[in-house]
Amino acid sequence: METVKNRVTELLNIKYPILEGGMAWVGTAKLAAAVSNAGGLGTIGSGNMDAKLLKNQIDTIRKLTDKPFAINVIMLNPHIEEVIELIIQEKVPIAILAAGNSSKYISKLREKGIKTLAVVSSENLALRLENAGAQAIIGEGMECGGHIGDVTTMVLVPKLVEILSVPVIAAGGIADGKGAVAALSLGAEGIQMGTRFIATYECEAHENYKKKIIDAGIRDTIITGQKMGHPARIIKTKFGKKIAKLEASSPEEAEEALVGSLMKAFVYGDEERGSFMAGQSSGLINEIKSVKDVIEDTMDYIINNKFSK
Ligand SMILES: Cc1cc2nc3c(=O)[nH]c(=O)nc-3n(C[C@H](O)[C@H](O)[C@H](O)COP(=O)(O)O)c2cc1C
Repeated sequence: METVKNRVTELLNIKYPILEGGMAWVGTAKLAAAVSNAGGLGTIGSGNMDAKLLKNQIDTIRKLTDKPFAINVIMLNPHIEEVIELIIQEKVPIAILAAGNSSKYISKLREKGIKTLAVVSSENLALRLENAGAQAIIGEGMECGGHIGDVTTMVLVPKLVEILSVPVIAAGGIADGKGAVAALSLGAEGIQMGTRFIATYECEAHENYKKKIIDAGIRDTIITGQKMGHPARIIKTKFGKKIAKLEASSPEEAEEALVGSLMKAFVYGDEERGSFMAGQSSGLINEIKSVKDVIEDTMDYIINNKFSK
């Protein structure tokens, strides 16, 4: 298939400018390898992993693909120092730093020759991280699944394109070629999808998780954790509604109930205690597909639609 060649495909050494968003728990080596093998950039979501767990994931992905892949690192990870050291030691091709000010790690990784990108939901942080050496910025709009900012993709992306020199990759609300073309029209040079890749055969999430995404409409997500300062978008289940209510009366209890809740959704498909993190784009996703079909259908639309001519 034809492709789009630009600064993102060049930088990441990938065929298609399509990234798998880093996803704690969900972004396993198996899913990431499938994305990389299909020509995109697969990303292992290291979440709260320590170096030992992550090493295992790196070994696994290296058995499954010889294509470039990334590790997503969140600034909240209590094991962050050892995780960064491991990425350097293992010469991981690409690091994607998220959820906070990653300046000090950007320079450290760049010095060791690791390509380094950063995820932001604000224009001010984007400028800081570009100055710190981030080679591309992923702008994540509030439609997205998982932890969210407060500006939509439609507005955040063109602002980032206006103020940054490095390439911008759009994330949040993109589930197909139409969303991808919209993002490219806004000036993005790549797109990142999270929720779409959960509803794939290769994703190792519990079947209930995938079904929740397929069944959801565009209004079937809810934001939890807002009161506690870490808003996250999840599917509006009974649990989600309970947490949203509890936050008003007892934020501590809500906080406690959220601990480990993504794992409960991912591993057990637990409707009573699990947070099924997913974006508004769940409402656009109607079937489980292979990773290859997600990527090729998206690229086919980009290449053949009338807007990209
Ligand atoms: C289950 C889940 C877990 C996520 N975990 C992370 C994470 O650990 N680090 C991160 O940078 N982004 C995380 N995200 C955000 C994704 O990387 C991606 O940017 C987002 O899903 C894109 O929006 P979409 O869901 O509308 O496709 C997560 C998203 C989901 C759905």
